Amino acid sequence: SEAHKLLVLAGDGIGPEVMREVARIVHWLDANRGLKLDITEELVGAASLAVHGVPIRDEVIDLARKSDAVLFGSVGDPAWSHVGFDKRPEVAILKLRKELELFANLRPAQLFDALIDASALKPEVVRGLDIMIVRETVGGIYFGEPRGIETLPDGSRRGINTEVYTTSEIERVARVAFEMARQRGNRVCSVEKCNVMESGLLWKEVVSDLHKCEYQDVELSHMLADNCAMQLVRNPNQFDVIVTGNLFGDILSDLASMLTGSLGMLPSATLGIVREDGKRNALYEPIHGSAPDIAGKGIANPLAQILSFAMLLRYSLNRADDADLIEKAVSNVLASGLRTADIMSPGMARVGTDMMGQAVVREMEKLA
Ligand code: NAD
Ligand code: IPM
Ligand code: MN
Repeated sequence: SEAHKLLVLAGDGIGPEVMREVARIVHWLDANRGLKLDITEELVGAASLAVHGVPIRDEVIDLARKSDAVLFGSVGDPAWSHVGFDKRPEVAILKLRKELELFANLRPAQLFDALIDASALKPEVVRGLDIMIVRETVGGIYFGEPRGIETLPDGSRRGINTEVYTTSEIERVARVAFEMARQRGNRVCSVEKCNVMESGLLWKEVVSDLHKCEYQDVELSHMLADNCAMQLVRNPNQFDVIVTGNLFGDILSDLASMLTGSLGMLPSATLGIVREDGKRNALYEPIHGSAPDIAGKGIANPLAQILSFAMLLRYSLNRADDADLIEKAVSNVLASGLRTADIMSPGMARVGTDMMGQAVVREMEKLA
């Protein structure tokens, strides 16, 4: 069969460092399991700004549209933090999401048993954690109009952003959450702030209506976002699927990452609309950023990027066996006691980015 078209966008900071470890796995799967990928690599973020003067070129967006999947690293660089919004590295990921209508960002927070001591919570609170945050990613306050910074007549300024959600935007992401729940624990918790925001009120109504019409077999609950943050720390195992808007989903998923030990552990998949060729737009990326504080040191945890690639194999390339193999290998490597700095605990063996990647491949070799 034909090779799968994959667009790889490593980006900035630790992005290229952790992507190198995925390349190792790709190579092994090619040699041993007949995975044929037709890979194109492009610059995004500060790396693209430096060469092309823009965070992402239109050609790259086009390539993304024509690929079977996009594997994204991370973007962001302190050197570009004082420029206008059109010139920020982060525009690359925002534009990809918007242009490809990648509206449903699946952020699983699963605790590997071996990492129970790396979690910020007590073992008895966090044991067995397996939640899925479904974050809306092309609407809400990230994209609402009006936006901008205005100068007022008295010379003072104001910054403006607007939270907007339409019924169709809410319904399509809620649908993904209900479908997800059916394959898991069959429970959805919808999170907004309907006590303060009209967009939250509409969110709650639309999710409730969809539930009533099509998903009565799934258990639905509602929670205010601030309470949800608290409940995630108090008793995270009460949740199965959480569905929420762009900003709340961003914050709650970073919070959830610490329950699993580290931001360096959590992968994500962002699913979009189904294209004319019948394929579904999809982008895979860790939830962490470019981590400028540790970039270039060779100590970043590559597991979130590796697990993002596993999600890519599962959801876009229909290669669940390979995804299972990677996930099992990661689990075994952690059980063997290898740890990058972010998940280090007493008595474990500390390794850098490359040793962790090599260990995963070695374990895949053993398991296969
Ligand atoms: P960050 O996620 O980059 O880092 C937060 C903290 O977690 C840092 O201390 C970092 O060292 C640590 N960390 C993150 N990933 C790690 C890994 N794989 N292994 C070990 N430690 C890890 O968030 P930040 O510092 O707030 O943001 C840095 C830059 O990244 C900003 O420019 C931000 O906009 C950008 N960012 C990009 C994305 C993305 O590309 N999708 C996501 C989040 C942040
Ligand atoms: C994420 C990031 C992005 C977001 C930034 C870099 C635009 O934090 O993917 O979680 O806020 O969505
Ligand atoms: Mn984020």
